[in-house]
Amino acid sequence: MKILFCIVLLLVVKGAIIVTCPKNGFGCVTYGANTIIQTARTNSLCRNGYYWNNQACMPCKNADIVVGGYYTCSAYYEGTSLTCISGYTLINGVCVQIPLGCTAYGLNQNSDAYVCTACLSDYTLKAGVCINNRYCSSWDDNAVCTSCQTGYFLNWDLKFASTSSNLNNQTDWINTYQTYYKFPGESFCSVCSQTMANCKSCNSAYTCTQCNDGYYWQQSISSTQLTSSNAQFAGSCVSCLTSGNCSTCQGSSCTQCRAGYYPTKDTTSTVILSCNLCPNGCSTCTSSTFCTDCQTSFYKYTDNLCYPLNKCASINTQLTTIPTTPKCSSCIAGYALDPSGTGICYQCGNCDSCTIPTGQQTASLQTSCTTCWDTYFGVKDTNGIVTCKPCTQASDSFLRCQGPVENSSLNGVVPTQCQDGYYLYTLPASGTTLAQTVCVPSNQSQQCVTILMY
Ligand SMILES: *[C@@H]1O[C@H](CO)[C@@H](O)[C@H](O)[C@H]1NC(C)=O
Ligand SMILES: *[C@@H]1O[C@H](CO)[C@@H](O)[C@H](O)[C@H]1NC(C)=O
Ligand SMILES: *[C@@H]1O[C@H](CO)[C@@H](O)[C@H](O)[C@H]1NC(C)=O
Ligand SMILES: *[C@@H]1O[C@H](CO)[C@@H](O)[C@H](O)[C@H]1NC(C)=O
Repeated sequence: MKILFCIVLLLVVKGAIIVTCPKNGFGCVTYGANTIIQTARTNSLCRNGYYWNNQACMPCKNADIVVGGYYTCSAYYEGTSLTCISGYTLINGVCVQIPLGCTAYGLNQNSDAYVCTACLSDYTLKAGVCINNRYCSSWDDNAVCTSCQTGYFLNWDLKFASTSSNLNNQTDWINTYQTYYKFPGESFCSVCSQTMANCKSCNSAYTCTQCNDGYYWQQSISSTQLTSSNAQFAGSCVSCLTSGNCSTCQGSSCTQCRAGYYPTKDTTSTVILSCNLCPNGCSTCTSSTFCTDCQTSFYKYTDNLCYPLNKCASINTQLTTIPTTPKCSSCIAGYALDPSGTGICYQCGNCDSCTIPTGQQTASLQTSCTTCWDTYFGVKDTNGIVTCKPCTQASDSFLRCQGPVENSSLNGVVPTQCQDGYYLYTLPASGTTLAQTVCVPSNQSQQCVTILMY
């Protein structure tokens, strides 16, 4: 397109102030690439530090790169405001990095130091600093751990089995040796299951106070003296059902199966002999032929088993005679229900939602789009059926567009956002030619735009 090397934008009202672009290029038409990816066809959004001037993304005035933040503006000539990115907070006009674990960071009362006033749940506030709990639940005045969280015990027999080349590398310690810690003045809580398999909570390395669900504590009868290498002699957490999948034990007997499993019982007692997987699609069941609840995207048929919903959002129980091919009373998104009452859902073409117009329920059943996919536009045929086509089919340079289906005042397809490397420009009306919105390659106007403001 042979437009202009220097486009003049005319915002004509009265009394002109002419703003000429500064040498640094601010105010110049910029690349469409500065727009960010959108999922909805709403107003054009620009990257941080840019504003949408109805034609292209333009950099905010004075939008210099700042550490931990960016400027936002609503127009070129408007003042910019600093917004801090996640992990930074605005203190005295600058973006300051928030320390790990801290959720509220600011100046102290004397305004001479940054302090935390709140911490993440894994951290504890001590003198304006968030310290990592590392499974500790209480500390003495010297910040030494005095008790551990459930599932951990105060490990007085700290074992430093590190093979790390750098023993002072805390990250390395946390990643590699999650159970042993070596932080002077900090907690040293070790996980119960480190020394005792299937132990949920313990008060020492060798005594489990609660086993995991489905396990019970079996005290050892061995008289061998306990050492760290024969810890198992204290006893161990034993499954109360050797085949597994029990959730509750009473002593060494299983009294309840895990969710999704049903019990096989002794005919003479209530003792559970095994916990068996529920039928496919069941979330809970009482036997291999009776589901009490189905998993999501499954439904319960009259035979009390669960079957896939397929494209149904809800089932027409009257029509459904073969459970594996359910008939729908409503369809999932992107499908339309046959209005002739067959209970069948038909897939929409290139659109988020569609209808099946009356009179169309023929062998070649046709859906008509009501909302096109993003970056598509609707085309209506002589029967009033709307199909959606990609905006790039109207022009390679279009990203998002509108046609007469989206906007009845249009008689052709016009861009609403251009592809990267292009910007949206409205050619003014002249003579009998109406104004026309087009996508112009951005490299055709590397030169400055002069903005006239009134
Ligand atoms: C500490 O260890 C982590 C994980 O192994 C590694 O990414 C990091 O570079 C180490 N830092 C130092 C200072 O050695
Ligand atoms: C639990 O049930 C599943 C499926 O039937 C089986 O694969 C598994 O071995 C059972 N036992 C345990 C301990 O998970
Ligand atoms: C419809 O098109 C007209 C003419 O281009 C335009 O002024 C108007 O903003 C459009 N409406 C919508 C909802 O996009
Ligand atoms: C503009 O960009 C296109 C595609 O990248 C390129 O082929 C063309 O030569 C460029 N024109 C100018 C004037 O730089």
